[in-house]
Amino acid sequence: TRVIVVNGPNLGRLGVRQPDVYGKQDLETLRKLCTEWGAALGLDVEVRQSDDEAEMVRWMHQAADEKTPVVMNPAAFTHYSYALADAAHMVIDEGLPLMEVHISNPSARDEFRKRSVISPVATGTITGMGFYGYKMALDAVVHLLES
Ligand code: DQA
Repeated sequence: TRVIVVNGPNLGRLGVRQPDVYGKQDLETLRKLCTEWGAALGLDVEVRQSDDEAEMVRWMHQAADEKTPVVMNPAAFTHYSYALADAAHMVIDEGLPLMEVHISNPSARDEFRKRSVISPVATGTITGMGFYGYKMALDAVVHLLES
């Protein structure tokens, strides 16, 4: 089963950006880990990153059309992108899992991070577990596809 792992704005800067919050490992490492974790679960994982809201919206349309489950770290779009939330809804409407992941725990941080417009749409949300959260999300996708 193909799964896309979609990362939003500024996550291409992992390893450089606030390592105290997001860790010292970069996006390439995340890509490698997700691919390996996925393979161990029998998933064909494709990791993407974009700073562009329109591109992320298009990826959701594609996922809905191609019936591809989604793991998404919407990054700052989490807090205000109704366009991305609507697009995520289209994936859910196809009966597909869409797991929201945050590396940090946004509720323990700035006030504006406490609200996610994606969470009400997502199948489930994993926060505060670092890169390991993506492994949990891939695990959840397998569980959701089986049940
Ligand atoms: C994040 C949390 C968001 O608030 C922030 O804008 C990010 C990353 C996380 O993974 O912890 O860019 O989604």
